[in-house]
Amino acid sequence: MLITRREEFSASHACLNPALTPERNRALYGEDSNPNGHGHNYAVEVTLEGEPDPVSGMVFDLKHLKSVIRQAVIEPFDHRFLNLEVQPFDRVVPTTENVAREIWRRLEAVLPAGRARLFSVRLYETEDLFADYFGERP
Ligand code: NI
Repeated sequence: MLITRREEFSASHACLNPALTPERNRALYGEDSNPNGHGHNYAVEVTLEGEPDPVSGMVFDLKHLKSVIRQAVIEPFDHRFLNLEVQPFDRVVPTTENVAREIWRRLEAVLPAGRARLFSVRLYETEDLFADYFGERP
């Protein structure tokens, strides 16, 4: 069974690879490469997989999941300029894909081992653009 919790944060970013020339960045990312950055209202959907506990009927306590997401992701990301204020985006381009993977890493590091495991992270950069990450594939 899968259960999902959705949280939101606002952050700015520039799609800019510091290893590339400004011309190359502009060719790759267009206006999004402007180093002054621009903002998004992101939404993240965190899905856990597991069987409901026979006593509680829950795969995972969703109040607890909310507090884990808030501490590991929302507090460090909300109202930040990702490229300047959130590791590793000083050296990793904060595309939707890379931000989704970083959110996965942060959650995996703090979610307790148990009956539920992290199944996916879906990150919406806009309503009609999102990335899904399922962890490293073997
Ligand atoms: Ni953007």
